[in-house]
Amino acid sequence: MDMSAQISGLDRLYPAHLAALTEHADRALIASRCDALVIGAGELKYRYLDDTTEHFIANPQFRAWVPVTDAPGSYLIYVPGQKPTLLFHQPEDYWHKPPSLPTAAWTRALDIKIIRSPDEVPAHIPARAAYLGEEFAHAPRCSFAMINPPSIVDPLHYARAVKTPYEIACMRLASAIGARAHVAAEMAYRAGASEYAIHLAYLAASGLQEAELPYTNIIALNEGGSILHYTTLERVAPLVSRSLLIDAGGQYRGYGSDITRSYASEPGPYLELITQLEQAQQKLCRMVMPGVAYPDIHSAAHRLIAQILLEARIIHGSVEAAVATGLTGVFFPHGIGHLLGLQVHDIGGRQASSQGGTLQPPAGQPYLRLTRRLEVGVVVTIEPGIYFIDLLLKKARADDRGKSICWDVVDALRPFGGARIEDNVVTCLTEPENLTRDAFAAL
Ligand code: GLY
Ligand code: MN
Ligand code: MN
Repeated sequence: MDMSAQISGLDRLYPAHLAALTEHADRALIASRCDALVIGAGELKYRYLDDTTEHFIANPQFRAWVPVTDAPGSYLIYVPGQKPTLLFHQPEDYWHKPPSLPTAAWTRALDIKIIRSPDEVPAHIPARAAYLGEEFAHAPRCSFAMINPPSIVDPLHYARAVKTPYEIACMRLASAIGARAHVAAEMAYRAGASEYAIHLAYLAASGLQEAELPYTNIIALNEGGSILHYTTLERVAPLVSRSLLIDAGGQYRGYGSDITRSYASEPGPYLELITQLEQAQQKLCRMVMPGVAYPDIHSAAHRLIAQILLEARIIHGSVEAAVATGLTGVFFPHGIGHLLGLQVHDIGGRQASSQGGTLQPPAGQPYLRLTRRLEVGVVVTIEPGIYFIDLLLKKARADDRGKSICWDVVDALRPFGGARIEDNVVTCLTEPENLTRDAFAAL
């Protein structure tokens, strides 16, 4: 299906999405003895000692209800049994262009009221309302019954992991945008562009402003690939671009994609590593099934990476020993992935249940952001990587692990930085849906 057909189908899915949200909210409001829910979009923040503002990113709790990303000072008000109200903040302003009132078909599911100033908000707040969002100067005048009560925040955050068909449709579009931009970035890389020029090629192909990206682009040539969140964007291309690691996403209606690809400029051990990593990554993507404990995918990733490291003669020994001694962690020092949605690391990844609580990550793996069991509709990333990180290699050399590392092979691979491959995968009853692979295949 082309993108315009997908976009026109979205609004038909929105009412059911809203119904799912109101169902969760109804239960949480009853449990909290509140009669209404008010969610703030957030406000523009001024930079310290400055009269310019930070880029506005609307509260994800608000964006879950309405695809409005550009109207700070807006509120969503929900009273059980009634159509939700959107208080759309459209100031009268000649310095800035006020946000345009949305008119797409989804707006029919809401009652939309324009407000010109925050002073108008208190008059719209129902009695015994619970408020979700950041607290602002005028909020006390609204006399909320509760502010960010865990009895409402926890169930709503927990439920966010399971995406509605509307949300998955938004994420398909975010994936299509990301895939299109990745192809343009690869072409720029092959033409010898600098990191900065690759970034510009990515932006142009995505049609997004930098502030609309779901996260800061990671575009690393050569050794830069060994820094997990490298965001320097060198303006000058290196004399030789041996490798590119690009981790960059698209965004649609506030939903993101989170895609990483690694490229080699020529055949050799680094390209072979990418090929092996990709095969392992695809195996891990196929593990995304209902009932699976996500940490088990992380553990499987360590075993697969151990195999790759052994076959590439980067290490010696056995898979079991490499995992048990933490040797694989020298080369793969991050989690296998996370929840994805309105936030690149979507909320609730470690939440034990809708009542709150925490599922701790496995010992020694503090960076694993998702520790829950998968359910149908949960969208995750699967992003194994193998890196040659000076800091971690130095530490390993100083302890027992250093004896199992083949240093000449490592030294030959250091100039390539590292490789990561990341797809976004929907948990389904049968085969998982790989949003990323589908998006690339549709180009
Ligand atoms: N792009 C950040 C991440 O992959 O988690
Ligand atoms: Mn990710
Ligand atoms: Mn990523």
